[in-house]
Amino acid sequence: MSDPATSETSPASLDGTLATRRIVLGITGGIAAYKAAELCRLLVKAGATVRVVMTEAATRFITPLTLQTLSGAPVSTDLFDSGSEAEIGHIRLADEADLLIVAPATADAIARLAAGMANDLLTAVVLATRAPVLLAPAMNVNMWENPLTQANLERLLGAGGGGRITSVGPDQGPLACGWIGAGRLIEPVEIAAAAIRLLAPGDLDGQRVVVTAGPTREPVDDVRFLGNRSSGKMGAALAASAAARGARVTLLAGPGTPAIPGRGGPIEIERIEVETAADLERALATATPSADAVVMTAAVADFRPRTRASGKLSRRAATGVALELTPVPDLLAGVARARQNGRPFLIGFAAEIGGGAAMETRAADKLRDKGCDAIVANDVSAAGIGFGADDNAVTVLFADGARVAIPRASKREVADQLWHLFAPRLPPKAKGKETAGHA
Ligand code: CTP
Repeated sequence: MSDPATSETSPASLDGTLATRRIVLGITGGIAAYKAAELCRLLVKAGATVRVVMTEAATRFITPLTLQTLSGAPVSTDLFDSGSEAEIGHIRLADEADLLIVAPATADAIARLAAGMANDLLTAVVLATRAPVLLAPAMNVNMWENPLTQANLERLLGAGGGGRITSVGPDQGPLACGWIGAGRLIEPVEIAAAAIRLLAPGDLDGQRVVVTAGPTREPVDDVRFLGNRSSGKMGAALAASAAARGARVTLLAGPGTPAIPGRGGPIEIERIEVETAADLERALATATPSADAVVMTAAVADFRPRTRASGKLSRRAATGVALELTPVPDLLAGVARARQNGRPFLIGFAAEIGGGAAMETRAADKLRDKGCDAIVANDVSAAGIGFGADDNAVTVLFADGARVAIPRASKREVADQLWHLFAPRLPPKAKGKETAGHA
């Protein structure tokens, strides 16, 4: 998806996140090669040292001079060029990189990489590196859907790539060749974000994290329910961010919670679908005792219909019918009560109408009443950052009195910043007790 809101807000927020990182940007010969210029600019802006390697075919679509200007370093194209080999050889490029990105990765490049070929500089560098490799495929939809391309990619993303190769995209949409379908290079900002994720700190290594996301649905009858407008995007972003930082993540996903993008990557998330608050309560009871951190982004119902009518309430019978509601227990407070020795670290979300000091006061009350370690307050009524939006802006209040405001950014970026705050506060892991008492 190329979402203009994400594209506009993310580049600024990537600043500095790749400082000290060395990235080799490989460009292969497809029409999307021109977008690699923007990717190069974003990576440099994020602080990375970028060395560009282009295939011969790529130079037909975009000039090395453009990439040289944007990266601030000579562009390498030829495996057998004695000048550039003397200056920085392909083995040094491969050895010194923290990450290799191939964008666009054409069907031909994917096939050659899958075959382990090294017949040009780029494939030689990919074959020789021990760094992670990120592929951003781009091609005609029929080439993309061709079983050969898919098999080649599967091979690279699986054991054939040594577990180091991941992919991002492609997007759906109109293609340069006139077809409409999958095959468009995913937006450069998304590739840069994926690179940041791959290079994310492992500050949640080995931690077990549980995230609740999305709305709950409380049945009125067999076809109707009471729900809310929560989209699950913030929870999905927190789950993906935690997994990228090395956590073992369980996502308790209410209806409509988005799938976590990316495949074949280090992001492996256990996902448990829940519908009602009662489902969520049961899932929490199973998942939280062994957790190191629990984040409750879910917009859990406060009330449910006292009875569930069987079948479908008829319009005729319903004249004058009132729905009798009964309170739903506070699940967050329940998890807080069940904690032992301060584990798990418990984070609530406060969905407030209106921001400012009043929002923070209400959030502080919830922090105290529910007994969690931190609460993330957000104004769900504000344009562009409420339920369903791609962005968020939050204020985090900690039980020890600390307060941190995170300005508007994509939900993924906010999630990254939240884990940056929470990771150092998680209780130290008791050695050898990781799974004590839990299957
Ligand atoms: N929460 C919960 N169980 C509920 C309701 C809310 O666990 N039955 C959790 C949410 O997951 C969130 C936090 O409590 O982490 C705050 O939710 P919020 O809707 O902001 O507050 P409420 O407790 O519902 O209070 P109010 O309706 O007064 O805003």
